[in-house]
Amino acid sequence: MQAAERQGFPDEARHLEYFSVPEQPDYVNHAFTVKLSETGKEFEVPKDKAISDVLLENGVHVDVKCADGICGVCKCGLVSGDVEHRDFVLSKAQQQREIVTCQSRASSEGATITLDL
Ligand code: FES
Repeated sequence: MQAAERQGFPDEARHLEYFSVPEQPDYVNHAFTVKLSETGKEFEVPKDKAISDVLLENGVHVDVKCADGICGVCKCGLVSGDVEHRDFVLSKAQQQREIVTCQSRASSEGATITLDL
């Protein structure tokens, strides 16, 4: 990936696929709100749960496979909100408009993320 970047391949032309979870930084979880753009429904996401957990608990279907941020199955459209992207699958360009719901979270306590759901 570094060699491709040095050679000038754009971000969207580079892809790295993980088969196990790479080492992650020591993230700090915050509670936040997730809002669905289609219905306007809002759900609180506590510190100890993922967006995908909360959606499923509230009857909102989202596919989940790895739950580790490496497969991309749980991604959905991101309408607004500052996100701490914790996945290993989306490109920087994709992270501007998509979110991996099993791992990524709002970047600050009490913030709201609006999903294209
Ligand atoms: S279920 Fe695999 S990235 Fe979320």
